Amino acid sequence: METPTLPRDLRDAPDAVAPDEDFLPINGTDYVEFYVGNAKQAAHFYASAFGFQITGYRGPETGYRDASTYLLTQGKIRFLLTTPMGPDGPIAEHIRLHGDGVKDLAIWVDDAASAFEETTKRGGVPVREPEVLEDEHGRIVISAIGTYGDTIHSFVERSDYTGLFMPGFEAVEHPYWKPEPVGLKYVDHCVGNVHLGDMNKYVDYYGDVMGFKNLVSFTDDDISTEYTALMSKVMANGNERVKFPINEPAQGKKKSQIEEYLEFYRGAGVQHVAMATDDILATVTQLRNRGVDFLYVPTTYYDDLQARVGQIDEPVEELAMLGILVDRDPDGYLLQIFTKPVEDRPTVFYEIIQRKGARSFGVGNFQSLFEAIEREQARRGNL
Ligand code: FE2
Repeated sequence: METPTLPRDLRDAPDAVAPDEDFLPINGTDYVEFYVGNAKQAAHFYASAFGFQITGYRGPETGYRDASTYLLTQGKIRFLLTTPMGPDGPIAEHIRLHGDGVKDLAIWVDDAASAFEETTKRGGVPVREPEVLEDEHGRIVISAIGTYGDTIHSFVERSDYTGLFMPGFEAVEHPYWKPEPVGLKYVDHCVGNVHLGDMNKYVDYYGDVMGFKNLVSFTDDDISTEYTALMSKVMANGNERVKFPINEPAQGKKKSQIEEYLEFYRGAGVQHVAMATDDILATVTQLRNRGVDFLYVPTTYYDDLQARVGQIDEPVEELAMLGILVDRDPDGYLLQIFTKPVEDRPTVFYEIIQRKGARSFGVGNFQSLFEAIEREQARRGNL
């Protein structure tokens, strides 16, 4: 395989916005909320397969009539899994249309009212006016704006809150709900797929409305196989704590993986969530032992790995055994692996990533990765 080069030296990316000029200061990802058909069972899957702890619950038993939500945590990662109690309403409609999928990429801010005001006055789509939620542990302020498809960004202010998560949630205990974690630490980035021609619209949205910068861009020259071509731009906030790459399909010979996603998700939405570990060998060993299915990479990928990426700390045989990919950029290297979709519709999947200096996204692996995805698409009859 020819060694692809980074389209743009990441060190040339514009400097972070000076904190006093940043109209949307961000501390990081607050939570990722999924709307799912059966949150009780999905919670069990994320606990047993991915090592999440089921730590909180809100639902009819806690005085919330309309939906059940499970709070899952691992490292700094919070997942919410929400199911409606009936067939009507926006949650049920979201699930009918999209299947299980990500509704909310929530952002942790110091001032949720200001975040709402500053973004909506710049053209952000208002979804939830700032709302104060209070209980005996203090107050949370939450607001939200829309982004691609039916996906939203909530802004969560929690500096005056000392409780478990949010008013309405109660701590839960169950012997099967506290499995050994697998070492997942934080959300590294969340990728969206949008329709052909919409990528720049959302790049502008993140730039204009949220003050994000374009960290790196990939064109279909960088990312194309015989069948798949796509274009991608990575948008990040000033301190790069949140990174949202946006993909759109480009013209290919057959249906690209992005088009397959858009068809089965019935529109734009979150394609994958990347979660970071600081020991990918241990994490992926655990995940495989617990039944998580990863994309298969041919062993030939490892034949000239060292020649492509130079000296790395991890034994190549172990990486090959687990199917972990490696890529280098000017700042260091990264190790990554991708799961197969975690629902029956070929939509949302996960990336496990360990960064050893590298700030990029594994462009050197795109070719092998897309070929692996296409083998799966062909098995589904969607290529
Ligand atoms: Fe990724």
